[in-house]
Amino acid sequence: MAKHSGKLENIKGLTFNGGFIVGQSEKLRRIFQLIEMVAKTEATVLVEGETGTGKELVANAIHYKSLRSKNPFYRVNCAAISETLLGSEFFGHLKGSFTGAWEDKKGVFELANTGSLLLDEIGNLSLLGQAKLLRVLQEREVAPVGGTKPIKIDVRVIVTTNIFLGDAIKKREFREDLFYRLKVFSLTMPPLREIKEDVPIIAEYFMKKYAQKYKKNISGFSKEAIDCLSQYDWPGNVRELTNIVERAVVMEDLDIIQLPHLPAELFSAKGRDHPAEEGFNLKSRLKLLERQLIVKSLNKAHWKKKAACELLGIDQRNLNYFLKKHHITDPITRLSKRGPKIA
Ligand SMILES: Nc1ncnc2c1ncn2[C@@H]1O[C@H](COP(=O)(O)OP(=O)(O)OP(=O)(O)O)[C@@H](O)[C@H]1O
Ligand SMILES: [Mg+2]
Repeated sequence: MAKHSGKLENIKGLTFNGGFIVGQSEKLRRIFQLIEMVAKTEATVLVEGETGTGKELVANAIHYKSLRSKNPFYRVNCAAISETLLGSEFFGHLKGSFTGAWEDKKGVFELANTGSLLLDEIGNLSLLGQAKLLRVLQEREVAPVGGTKPIKIDVRVIVTTNIFLGDAIKKREFREDLFYRLKVFSLTMPPLREIKEDVPIIAEYFMKKYAQKYKKNISGFSKEAIDCLSQYDWPGNVRELTNIVERAVVMEDLDIIQLPHLPAELFSAKGRDHPAEEGFNLKSRLKLLERQLIVKSLNKAHWKKKAACELLGIDQRNLNYFLKKHHITDPITRLSKRGPKIA
């Protein structure tokens, strides 16, 4: 079987302090150029793209490649701020300014002063929040809730959105004036289906990363598995790909990741059965069923061999034989420093 593998150091991408963006397609190389270019400026940046395309990663790269890289970097998830705490979250508050304000608290603009502030998922910021944000961007000063003296702030703002702001503006859910203030420089992350040539190296990168994390000796993918990953449309983009690779690495104790280790959705999207459920070869279908039953019973018995044997109606010697035959290891043993196998 052909094997697709590569060394981590051969994987191309953009390195920044604390991170790595994998990619060598023309579209991602263009993004890398734009990051390098805009990072050195003070411009506000809008990063758009579908969910899981790497917007937060890019925002990090912009900060850590900027002249502010040694200064604070704060992230606020705009989708998670409640309307009532918005003022306090953005600008801070003084002790006693409202019920529950037990002590003075700094807001994110002040915390990020001299550095950068990432406003994540800006499309979910309420209209009230948008009005407050617009005022800060115009005046470059903030006053904490309950206070009167404004503080000058010097913050570079980076925003991300997975909602197409043009549509939100039409629906009057997003302010057009704020949009133009944020869109001084904008970057659009391509969905993974548009940069399919990057799928193998992204998969490879995460396979190595998770193999290290879970102390596995997996060295690559079969050619068929890589072809299958490359053909899928990836509605959840890179995040979905990382999850699938992590699952395959965690679940299997094999040398290479093959088609049966990939989840059913990759096949059903193309109207195909999972390869493990394809074909009429009695021997291979029975072998698979045998493995599935053993793993299922062990899971049900919380990996207590005696209880699993009772479920299966076999003795421990038998079970040990099957564990060896199917390369099945206890997940707890597997995750703890590649300890002894249970078989
Ligand atoms: N090109 C890439 N190289 C390496 N890792 C990537 C790449 N793109 C995305 N990732 C990883 O995929 C995951 C999702 O990325 P990120 O959180 O930046 O996406 P997002 O666009 O902000 O998603 P959401 O809209 O759902 O918040 C993260 O673990 C990130 O590190
Ligand atoms: Mg994000």
